[in-house]
Amino acid sequence: MAAAFHPVALVTGASRGIGRTIARQLAAREARVAVHFHQNRAAAEAILAALPGTGHALFAADLTVPTAPEGLVAGVLRAFGRIDVLVNNAGIYELHAPGEVTFAEWQKRWDRTVAANLTAPAHLSFLAAQGMRRTNGGRIVNISSRGAFRGEARAPAYGAAKAGLNAFGQSLAKALAPERIFVFTLAPGWVDTDMAAGHLQGPRGAEIVRDIPLGRVATTEEVARAVVWLALDAPESMTGCIIDLNGASYLRT
Ligand SMILES: NC(=O)c1ccc[n+]([C@@H]2O[C@H](COP(=O)([O-])OP(=O)(O)OC[C@H]3O[C@@H](n4cnc5c(N)ncnc54)[C@H](OP(=O)(O)O)[C@@H]3O)[C@@H](O)[C@H]2O)c1
Repeated sequence: MAAAFHPVALVTGASRGIGRTIARQLAAREARVAVHFHQNRAAAEAILAALPGTGHALFAADLTVPTAPEGLVAGVLRAFGRIDVLVNNAGIYELHAPGEVTFAEWQKRWDRTVAANLTAPAHLSFLAAQGMRRTNGGRIVNISSRGAFRGEARAPAYGAAKAGLNAFGQSLAKALAPERIFVFTLAPGWVDTDMAAGHLQGPRGAEIVRDIPLGRVATTEEVARAVVWLALDAPESMTGCIIDLNGASYLRT
């Protein structure tokens, strides 16, 4: 009898928030998870220890650094020999409202945000696809944002990077479908994590929730369920799709 197949899934930003729940749900589906983190080693180690199943491993990388994707993918390939699923989840949200910051601050936030939220996912995808090609295919799931469509008045680089990520995912899906590498994008609205906590608990918190017909923000469990479905179960013909997850707060035609 053939041994059970345990796909290798690299989840970036898996030490907290959405990524942590994605890692847990993928492990519950018998994936071997490469748990990536940036600074929170203790949190990442706790996640690793709590994951169901065996064969998971930890990887640190600052994805604002241009050389980081190469080191990260090389490390995962060294440890596991393959990558079947890449979830580009790690992201940063830094305020830089025009009119509130100096040009120097604007440039710094712009460069960091685009590096972490667009350039790193692009480079990780390129490198992971090289590995996937050798093992007859794989899946990439990009975590975008409702802000890509609606605009981010106080974090324009975030909106621009996520819009770029949407377009990147579409281009990559076209380029890689013949090689059985499928690319999906999920665009959540507000999700109850550290990234959103300051806003949800701040003076605008009630207004944010009033804007969501569902009456609440999404949970990390909901986002992870959608990601895991895209990563393991979604029909191949869905490659290139961009899926909303926002409680009907922003609907596209
Ligand atoms: N929360 C929301 O409302 C919301 C809505 C729409 C889309 N999203 C998207 O969903 C994804 C996850 O967001 P979240 O809310 O779960 O975020 P979060 O709770 O702030 O967690 C961010 C994760 O990214 C990692 N990270 C931060 N800076 C990094 C860097 N420079 N290099 C590498 N990794 C870095 C963090 O690692 P450390 O723990 O080591 O710092 C952490 O694991 C992001 O792409 C975000 O844009 C979130």
